[in-house]
Amino acid sequence: MKKIAVLTSGGDAPGMNACIRAVVRTGIFHGLEVIGVRRGYEGLIEGDFLPMDSHSVSNIIQRGGTILKTSRSSRFMLDEGLRQAIIMAQRAGIEGFVMIGGDGTFKGANEFSKLSGIPCTGAPGTIDNDLFGTDYTIGYDTALNTVISAVDKIRDTAASHSRLFFIEVMGRDAGFIALYGGVGAGAEEILIPETSTDITQLIRRLDEGWKRHKSSVIIIIAEGDKEGGAFEVARKVKERFDHYDTRVTVIGHMQRGGSPTCFDRVLASRLGVAATEALLQGNKNVAAGLVNNQIAFTPFEKARKHKVDINEDLIRISRMLST
Ligand code: F6P
Repeated sequence: MKKIAVLTSGGDAPGMNACIRAVVRTGIFHGLEVIGVRRGYEGLIEGDFLPMDSHSVSNIIQRGGTILKTSRSSRFMLDEGLRQAIIMAQRAGIEGFVMIGGDGTFKGANEFSKLSGIPCTGAPGTIDNDLFGTDYTIGYDTALNTVISAVDKIRDTAASHSRLFFIEVMGRDAGFIALYGGVGAGAEEILIPETSTDITQLIRRLDEGWKRHKSSVIIIIAEGDKEGGAFEVARKVKERFDHYDTRVTVIGHMQRGGSPTCFDRVLASRLGVAATEALLQGNKNVAAGLVNNQIAFTPFEKARKHKVDINEDLIRISRMLST
């Protein structure tokens, strides 16, 4: 193998740049030519390639976002787009890919590799932490720190005004950010898609708190909760329980930005090296991950389809500790 390429796809995540840096420099260390693909699978379809050298990844380990840019490509999911991407990769003489991203990225990588015969490996880059085969995804730790810093600030104003805040965090299908961010910020309630939310029980607990003269309350809601996002849950609660003055905050895309934490930089560096060296050793269709602090490889399909268990006991802990 003489020439490989790296791309970032799907939602950006802090630490993707550290991972790009690791792939490029590992490739160069092993004597490879490394190409950057701009704008994820969209760029692959269009042949938007950029030769990378060691200098092109200088001074990026600390930067959020992705210098290669990213996209959610619907064209790549169609036969025509996939075939066009294969033509572009073959024309450029690319013999292997490292794809950095989440479940959609791994799905695309798997199909691309199977149809083209070009081996692909992956590094899990998503703030959602919802991929099987790694204890942590790149960007998750930074997003959690953004969440607790935002909730801490909201707590100040909630306590000053004796208010009830409904705070929505990201996680379309997964509640990891809500659960760990909620425990870390001392939230009274945490609502996540993995468990059913009982509004009647929630109101009962709020009422108990009210009777104990609890002056302010923070409820963290994952955007994918089955009862709805923060506005919807707030509406349902207020209809039947209006003791508190309430406010809603959606933290939103702030969670995806910012300089990666040290944890994410180290994780991204390790996974970038592992994914690149795995490619060189003849592996394909696997994602690098970290399990019990050891590098592990999981087939793309398993990484994205296998359910990642959530520690529901943390909900009980959060309630017990915030009374
Ligand atoms: O997959 C990461 C994520 O941040 C999810 O938590 C969120 O639901 C989604 O991306 C938002 O995506 P977009 O920026 O495309 O609206």
